[in-house]
Amino acid sequence: MIKHDVKSLSLAKAGRKKIEWAERQMDVLRQIRVRFSREKPLAGVRMAACLHVTAETANLVRTLKAGGAQVALCASNPLSTQDEVAASLVKDFNIAVYAINNVDRQKYYRHINAVLDLKPNLTMDDGADLVSVIHGQRKNLVKNIFGGTEETTTGVIRLKALADQKKLLYPIVAVNDAQTKHFFDNRYGTGQSTLDGIIRATNWLLAGKTVVTAGYGWCGRGFALKAKGLGAKVIVTEVDPLKALEAVMDGFNVMPMLKAAPLGDIFCTLTGDTHVLRAEHFGRMKDGAVVCNSGHFDVEIDLVVLKKMSVSVKTVRPFVEAYRLKNGRAIHVLAGGRLINLAAAEGHPASVMDMSFANQSLAAEFVVKNRGQLENKVYDVTLENDHYIAKAKLKSLGVKIDRLTPEQVKYLSSWEIGT
Ligand code: ADE
Repeated sequence: MIKHDVKSLSLAKAGRKKIEWAERQMDVLRQIRVRFSREKPLAGVRMAACLHVTAETANLVRTLKAGGAQVALCASNPLSTQDEVAASLVKDFNIAVYAINNVDRQKYYRHINAVLDLKPNLTMDDGADLVSVIHGQRKNLVKNIFGGTEETTTGVIRLKALADQKKLLYPIVAVNDAQTKHFFDNRYGTGQSTLDGIIRATNWLLAGKTVVTAGYGWCGRGFALKAKGLGAKVIVTEVDPLKALEAVMDGFNVMPMLKAAPLGDIFCTLTGDTHVLRAEHFGRMKDGAVVCNSGHFDVEIDLVVLKKMSVSVKTVRPFVEAYRLKNGRAIHVLAGGRLINLAAAEGHPASVMDMSFANQSLAAEFVVKNRGQLENKVYDVTLENDHYIAKAKLKSLGVKIDRLTPEQVKYLSSWEIGT
């Protein structure tokens, strides 16, 4: 048996069913897997992957393995691991997985280090934790690395900060920035899965509730849209004037968090920044308000200060803790302020992860093909890959589109024809 640290291999049968169920919605990735099996573009490449260990990720890892890579996988969040999927990856697919749901910080980093012990040629991150450990404690690994890929907005921000300081030690492809990634995964994926997480955790009716969305990036846009669709009254808070204006014209109420605090029934942070909900807001919230986070890290809600403001903290249902404030009111925190969509639900549905992980697979192939020729900077996904994925996804959905006529092509390349 391949080296691993998972909860129990006895869960593998249930995990395999989940993986196969997800696969049915992942046509683009399946198509890439078929090509990878034939062409072996990742032959002999050692890959360390730090991703949410879900059924969708399992299908990505199968694709990388089909391409010839040796993959070791750990979790990119302590609460997102699907233990049955981790078990099946080890038992049925012979992948070295180091991931157990609900581990403490120490074990979380032990798993990251176990994956890095593979001495990877390629890193695949969701949140840049591998890159961060390599650039901090394990710089000696850099000599083996051709490059890496990054899945999420928060990770890309961290990498660009590293690159701006001229400290990035190998090239990385920003998968998040592909159009076939963030237009769909961040918007429709986060929109649906965040609501799914809130509903599974609370079993609340959304219709008529006031939902406060902190942040109107792609994730916030998706969440606000889906909450509105379920009949919630949606308030948006923003710091960016353009995004705030867009939210206004999309029909949402826009105001500072301090004003929204006494109005909201549910608050969800999707900003990627720290302490978006803090003491001044908690003190004004209604009794029973629900607060949760769908940003990558658990920094958006200041739980340290909330605890200081509280006389007691009690778990009142799975994923729901009631903080009883000194003012007598209760604030309900979901999933300890960690990614609500992956902790209380199952993350984005497979159909959208199909495109994200098709991007990951093609980005890995790109890095390997171009090894030794890339600079230590953050690269965009090629337009060619983005278009390939969009076309393949449309095809898998059975959607046909028009083509420009020769006359239209000519018109678009001319400047002479006017009024
Ligand atoms: N990120 C968001 N949803 C996900 C999923 N289902 N699998 C892996 N990563 C994710």
